[in-house]
Amino acid sequence: MKTDNTVWHKQHITKRQRAQLKQQKPCLLWYTGLSGSGKSTIANAVDAMLYAQGYHSYLLDGDNVRHGLNGDLGFSDEDRIENIRRLSEVSKLFVDAGLIVATAFISPFSQDRAIARAKLEPGEFIEIYIDTPLALCEQRDPKGLYKKARAGEIKHFTGIDSSYEVPQSPEIHLNTANLSITQCAKQVIDYLHKHQFICSKEEG
Ligand code: ADX
Repeated sequence: MKTDNTVWHKQHITKRQRAQLKQQKPCLLWYTGLSGSGKSTIANAVDAMLYAQGYHSYLLDGDNVRHGLNGDLGFSDEDRIENIRRLSEVSKLFVDAGLIVATAFISPFSQDRAIARAKLEPGEFIEIYIDTPLALCEQRDPKGLYKKARAGEIKHFTGIDSSYEVPQSPEIHLNTANLSITQCAKQVIDYLHKHQFICSKEEG
């Protein structure tokens, strides 16, 4: 830490109070998977379902955040680590604000995901592995990036010449090759219900 002379200022209103106001339990839905695996698509579908049910969620998307806050970062291992570090800190603030937060980043390294998890309270970090085989991601290639990576026009591309470490025990494992987007999103919503992050509004 470069700032030695700062003191943490305790705030009057707690995370619990903010969450009560919204009638939800804040958490972080951490989507991880290869580029083109469907992270953003599924995260958006879940976000829309939560919104429709009156819950307050917010999605931090890898590509979008790289246009602003993380615009100075590239795709070297170091930069990816810093990308995830900043995002886990931002997410933690959003969780503290009482929101159901979602992040959609490749987040290829297990250690960084573990560090992000450790920043939150037990149970708050929900790792969602978007399990889509590389061959299928490459076939979909929604942004044409795999083609460029194979042609050597993009270096350090995840799955091609940069590694992706598969989550060993994610809270939710979505096998997208066999499920529709809606089915995937519903599994996430079911998890949130089951673990009482949300409840049917009529249940109180
Ligand atoms: S992460 O590895 O640092 O978590 P992040 O999710 O923020 O990656 O960004 C990945 C997105 O950036 C991809 O979906 C793709 O659109 C784009 N991208 C551009 N270059 C690369 C690259 N070398 N490797 C992976 N994704 C890349």
